[in-house]
Amino acid sequence: MQHDKVLILDFGSQVTQLIARRVRDAHVLSEVHPCDVTDDWVRAYAADGHLKGVILSGSHASVYEETTDRCPQAVFDLGVPVLGICYGMQTMAQQLGGKVEGGQTREFGAAAVRAHGHTALLKDIVDFTTPEGHGMLNVWMSHGDKVTELPPGFKLMASTDSCPIAGMADEDRRYYALQFHPEVTHTVQGQAILDRFVLDICAARPDWVMHDHVAEAVAKIREQVGDEEVILGLSGGVDSSVAAALIHRAIGDQLTCVFVDHGLLRLNEGDLVMEMFVGKLHAKVIRVDASDLFLGKLAGVSDPEAKRKIIGGEFVTVFKQEAAKLTSAGAKGAKWLAQGTIYPDVIESGGAKSKKAVTIKSHHNVGGLPEQLGLKLLEPLRDLFKDEVRELGVALGLPHAMVYRHPFPGPGLGVRILGEVKKEYAELLRRADDIFIQELRNFTDQSTGKSWYDLTSQAFTVFLPVKSVGVMGDGRTYEYVVALRAVQTSDFMTADWAELPYALLKKVSGRIINEVRGINRVTYDVSSKPPATIEWE
Ligand code: XMP
Repeated sequence: MQHDKVLILDFGSQVTQLIARRVRDAHVLSEVHPCDVTDDWVRAYAADGHLKGVILSGSHASVYEETTDRCPQAVFDLGVPVLGICYGMQTMAQQLGGKVEGGQTREFGAAAVRAHGHTALLKDIVDFTTPEGHGMLNVWMSHGDKVTELPPGFKLMASTDSCPIAGMADEDRRYYALQFHPEVTHTVQGQAILDRFVLDICAARPDWVMHDHVAEAVAKIREQVGDEEVILGLSGGVDSSVAAALIHRAIGDQLTCVFVDHGLLRLNEGDLVMEMFVGKLHAKVIRVDASDLFLGKLAGVSDPEAKRKIIGGEFVTVFKQEAAKLTSAGAKGAKWLAQGTIYPDVIESGGAKSKKAVTIKSHHNVGGLPEQLGLKLLEPLRDLFKDEVRELGVALGLPHAMVYRHPFPGPGLGVRILGEVKKEYAELLRRADDIFIQELRNFTDQSTGKSWYDLTSQAFTVFLPVKSVGVMGDGRTYEYVVALRAVQTSDFMTADWAELPYALLKKVSGRIINEVRGINRVTYDVSSKPPATIEWE
């Protein structure tokens, strides 16, 4: 099935992915590509007639440095609507004959914008009306340069005192541009504006619905794989679980999952994974209990990066051994390796130039495995954002609690036990962590009706290998300390520590100290990221 789609050209803004997400929230397929695609690429992309519109993202750059990026001319020749956002507006203005100037000061933050001209994009979308009767929008601005002269054919669509041209439109050609960011939640009517653009102005068909996507994805997997066998590394995380459930729905026993238990999983996690996939879905899962192997390799190692490398490296070795058995099984040997790659991974490796992040922590990744194993790569989630993967998981019948679980790092408890990892520490940590998570699920916030588990983005317990003195009954204790960590974040790049209710913290600390012999002190981590990170290692 061919979906109508909207192309988002990425000029390197941090929030480009949010534009794609918002368009998909309108149930229209959107794809992000780097802004430096060629004219031929653009024409080929539009050739099937399903490209209904183009959105030009923001950027860090300044439009009028000669070296910075421009929108491929072909975009303006396609005859489809174009929306420029921030830098996207400036490059549109510059390329179509207007003028952009460097601002003396950067404007960053909330602003009230006056809508003008009753354009198709903003008509009847307002947050409030001034006494003079002007329709106003509460928006988020972030820019240095600004458009100072409209290109021929354009009229004014929005303004603020400090930015007289905060929006412009050429309604004959269906070109629209906004200096503010409709994709961020601080722009209250942002979703309404993007809905208006893709559904009304582009007239894209809203047929990107996860519930319907199951049948399409199943058909695609069957077509790709035929009667060949597939191997998948199941970790218990959301992405690999949804990928496994989807592939299993498509090809049943042609799929074999390999679940490497490195002994650093949460309480009962291995059993729960087996119960779900073998017990309920009747999938073929090989469980490899490698905890002794991993703990052996980790003995005496306390440096976080060294621990990550050992866990990542060992994981690949064990997985490869199992995979080799499955691929060498004669004519019916596996030909495919399935991975739970999701769309943000694809966008990030797709070369948006600005994303030159410094490595703070090396996350273990299994890139290159398919080549080493001589297998073809199957990535059934590579078009989906995380929220969509979750919706798909629910549509496939996976339990809500599994699909909406907090993220869990690949090295697992290996980076939540500070310093050297020992079996005794892992056992204490698992039990303490389980109590924390149970109580987060039990406590409901009155004002939202949600559990504190759902109100936090990630929560866990950290084991500190130090002993502190306590008193229990008549006796003195000298036992270990744990720290509770709970954060709220939308992107995991920055995070605030969660203001958990005292009653919840009290319950958790009481239960941990009473139920987990060996821990006599519970602390709560009140550091935000930055400067701290979410994990302690
Ligand atoms: P930090 O600690 O860097 O964490 O603020 C940001 C997010 O990344 C997760 N994380 C990892 N995930 N392997 C993973 O798969 C790792 O080595 C790793 N280290 C951190 C962390 O749990 C948080 O969600």
